[in-house]
Formats: sequence, C-alpha cells, structure tokens
Amino acid sequence: MSDLPNDIKISKVSESKISNVDFNKLDFGKIFTDHMFVCDYKDGAWQTPEIMPYQPLTIAPSARVFHYGQAVFEGMKAFKDEDDQIWLFRPEDNHDRINKSSHRMAIPEFPKDFFFEGLTQLLHLEKDWIQKGKGNSLYIRPFVIATEEAISASPASTYKFMIICSPAQSYYAGEVKVLFAEKFSRAADGGVGFAKAAGNYGAQFYPTSLAHAKGYQQIIWTDASTHEYLEEAGTMNIFFRVGDTLLTAPNNDRILDGITRKSLIQLAKDSNIKVEVRRVTVAEIKEAAKTGELKEIFGAGTAAVINPISGFEHAGDKFDLPKLDNSYATFFKEKLMNIQYNVSEDPHGWRYKV
Ligand SMILES: Cc1ncc(COP(=O)(O)O)c(C=O)c1O
Repeated sequence: MSDLPNDIKISKVSESKISNVDFNKLDFGKIFTDHMFVCDYKDGAWQTPEIMPYQPLTIAPSARVFHYGQAVFEGMKAFKDEDDQIWLFRPEDNHDRINKSSHRMAIPEFPKDFFFEGLTQLLHLEKDWIQKGKGNSLYIRPFVIATEEAISASPASTYKFMIICSPAQSYYAGEVKVLFAEKFSRAADGGVGFAKAAGNYGAQFYPTSLAHAKGYQQIIWTDASTHEYLEEAGTMNIFFRVGDTLLTAPNNDRILDGITRKSLIQLAKDSNIKVEVRRVTVAEIKEAAKTGELKEIFGAGTAAVINPISGFEHAGDKFDLPKLDNSYATFFKEKLMNIQYNVSEDPHGWRYKV
C-alpha cells in the first residue's frame, strides 16, 4: 500500500454552488455537491487519495471501462439529525460489498481505511448539503472504473475509485405498479447479479422501457431458467406480505445482498413479525392475490427506503393490492428511518457517526 489515508490531498472550491440549489425540488441524482473523492490505482497499488472540486474527468477513449464495462458502484446515504450530527447506515457493509463486486469483476479491492477516511473527510466538507428532516439525505455514490488505455479484452492495470454525492429527498413518488418478468432476465446463475456491476443496470433499461410503455414503473425479475420464482426489482429487494407473514427470496448469485433487506428481516424478528426467507413462486403470489391473502408487496433499498407496490401484472393477469391503514411498509419505513435519523435507539449498532 502507498501513502496513509491521512495524507489525502484536499483542494476546495473557491465558491460553493449550494446557493443555486432548491432543496425542495430535487430531481434524484441530477445535482452534485461541490467536491469529489478520487483515488487512482497504478503500479499494483492505490495511490494517495485526493478530494477536489467536482468536475469532468479526462479519460482516453480506449479506457477499458468503455469497451468491457469493468465498473462497479455502491449506493449509500448520509443523514443529519436534529443536533446537526451526521450519520451513515451500516457503511461497513457497503465497503464489503463494493469489494465483493470488484473481486467478481477482476478489479483490485479498495482498502477500508482509505474508504472511511475519504468518506468522512468528504462528508465533513459537504455537511451543508445534508439537509435536516426525515426523507432528506445525501446520496453517496462510490464507484470504480477501469482506466487503462487498451482495447484488448482483459482486466485493466489502472483504475479510478471515486465518490460523488447528490442531495436527495425521497426517490420514488406516486404509485408503483410492477410487471413480473416472463421473458427477459436480469441475472443468471454463475453470473454477476450479486455484484453491483454497472452492466447489470444498463441491461435492464430496455425491458424496463417496454414495461413503462405498458404502464408499469418497474419489473420484478424472476429466476432466469424457469421464470417461476420472484427474485428482486431493478434497485430493490422485494417483500411480499401474505396474511401476516413476510416472504422474501434468499440471497443467491443472481440477487444483490441488500442492506435494507437484511435490516428489515432483523427488524421484523425484533417486532415478532414472521418472516420466511425462501423461494417465492409467481404462482403462489397470484393465488394469494386472488384469495385476498396477499396484503402487500414492497421494495426495500437505500434510494427508496421502502417502496409500496400498488399492483402487478403477470401473463396478462392484472392485480391491484388493497390500501391498508396499518401496512408493514409504513411500519418498517418508520422504524428504519428512526434509526437512520438518530430518533430511536440503535440496538444493532447500525448507525455510524461521521
Ligand atoms: C439490484 C439491487 N437490489 C437491491 C438493492 C437494495 O440494496 P440496498 O438495500 O443495500 O440499497 C439495490 C440497491 O442498492 C440494487 O441495486
């Protein structure tokens, strides 16, 4: 390893852009804070990291990322409590996961001390961009790209690890209806579905645009070989409430090991709500919808936190879900956000003070 992370070189903007931002009208992921964190990998080591003004990069057109998609990313959030303290939620898990993704994509892993020191220093600089109040947050996007100039199909010898930040309100607005996948697949056995590899997302855009044209905002992906088992959505893990039991698919090499998902499973156990982590079939969910036993479907993920789903379609059969007063979706969202915003106790030690 090269230099220590406390050698991070910091160059600040001369004037912040923050006064131009309307925090009440944020389009998710379109506005970026003043600074970014950058660390280059070369000669077999991560070099001295830098924090610099957010700006375009100069990258050769032959950089391998453009040709072979050697790129991974993460998504996490910072929250501000009523005393102006800044918190992250289970950030070690994001660090572990980006390294798992990198490993699968033959990208060198990023050292934990660099990650935490870089993140902390960047968030201290950008603290004014984190607005108080539930629902407000700073979305944080760490990512790695292969920068080596070479168009032969093999792993690069140089990379860039970066962190950029974007102020956020809540991700989704309005009702979300979903289509259960029948033909297209997001991920296959032995593939990269469990990794946050950039190509997993690009590959969903076309089938999702077909779903949009039919009036559905998202697809719930099914297993690639039979399309009989419900797996996850594009950027969320999925929970089904049948009666008073929550069902969610087990992790496998096609599914992203979601941090929100595993937190919800724990919160359900803490609240004596029965959770079954097992394969969930399309057939049983359609049957439960017909008998009225299917009470809720919701997605769980960092960006949206919990996203209730109001209806679904599969093989031409359409179902609407009831509107509940005491939904699990609302219950878990409240519980999770109270932990994230330092409103309630944190019995599992998930909060991380920046
Ligand atoms: C494919 C996919 N599934 C699930 C999730 C939810 O994961 P997390 O709760 O860690 O944000 C995400 C978002 O990160 C995702 O991209």
